[in-house]
Amino acid sequence: MGELPRRHPSVAPVGLTGRARAEAVAAPGPLTFAAVPAQPAARPGPTARPGPAARPGSTARPGTTAPTEEPTPATRPAATPAPSDAAPAATPEEFEQPSSARVYDYLLGGAAHGAVDRALGDRLKCSQPGVVELARENRAFLRRAVRFLLAAGIDQFLDLGSGVPTMGNVHEVVARSRSGARVAYTDVDSIAALHGQHLLAALPTATYTAVDIADVDAVLSAPGVAGLLDLRRPVGLLAFSVLQHVREDAASLVEAYLRRLAPGSALGLSHFTDDDPRTGTAIETETAAYPRSVPRPRSRAEVAALLTGVDLVDPGLVWADEWRPEPGRPAGGAEARGHWAAVGFRQ
Ligand SMILES: C[S@@+](CC[C@H](N)C(=O)[O-])C[C@H]1O[C@@H](n2cnc3c(N)ncnc32)[C@H](O)[C@@H]1O
Repeated sequence: MGELPRRHPSVAPVGLTGRARAEAVAAPGPLTFAAVPAQPAARPGPTARPGPAARPGSTARPGTTAPTEEPTPATRPAATPAPSDAAPAATPEEFEQPSSARVYDYLLGGAAHGAVDRALGDRLKCSQPGVVELARENRAFLRRAVRFLLAAGIDQFLDLGSGVPTMGNVHEVVARSRSGARVAYTDVDSIAALHGQHLLAALPTATYTAVDIADVDAVLSAPGVAGLLDLRRPVGLLAFSVLQHVREDAASLVEAYLRRLAPGSALGLSHFTDDDPRTGTAIETETAAYPRSVPRPRSRAEVAALLTGVDLVDPGLVWADEWRPEPGRPAGGAEARGHWAAVGFRQ
């Protein structure tokens, strides 16, 4: 096993108070979009909350809070409609081919998929009976990681490869926190993005952009990202079960995003792996049918190499179900394991 990423050097890394708060905020259980409580009206922008820049050890860039004449994403009241991206144009071929976003939605019990996605999902369930649990474990980790980051003071998220924003996705966790935090979703799948834009249309604190995450400039300059998030302030960069679709040099991509984000920014990451012999191979075989993004599982050492610019919080890089499990849900209880997972702060 290669060199592992450094954990944060102290038991109390930056965000210690946040960590304590993170555990208090825990609210287990998936939500559906229909269950999302209304966002508080006219909540002040994220600058009203003390952010991670206040954490010891983080260095706020000079001038990051300088007043500007035009409303910035940070000063724009959350009740203002979110900036919208153009609706993506889905091609007929996209409807005829299974996609990772929609098969995943099917496995999670969502409704944003077609017959072709269900067919692949059913084949996966036969060849790999643990696949549904694996998808649920990954989403459950997403929720715990987002709750942790919210409690640490992160109040804006850039979610790479979001999938369909239902079944307990980021804005639903945020809604439960009543923090008013903002969420910019991105995905290359235009049908998932269309669903996302439709679902989020009434929510002033979330956007959905159809974009390839390999193009960092395109992501960071998209209206739904640059118009919603204040990139001069810390951002929670989320990359859950997506970097396996970046076959080459995913480490440089992670580094490029982190370099462009403000000090105090954080990363939540999970990554598909075939390290567990009970899973992986069957999933790889079936998902080779994805026309656009055949996944490349990575070993723990390879995932660790993606995290070299990040100070990980405890427990470091572990199986998704082992990352700060819910009280009453002992770590290591999962039948099938398919994702390595970690959360940390940009160095
Ligand atoms: C397994 S799903 C994970 C969804 C969500 N992040 C989660 O963990 O619940 C992988 C997602 O990554 C998206 N994806 C794959 N390659 C991508 C790329 N190059 N740019 C943006 N999204 C991508 C897929 O469309 C899909 O929605």
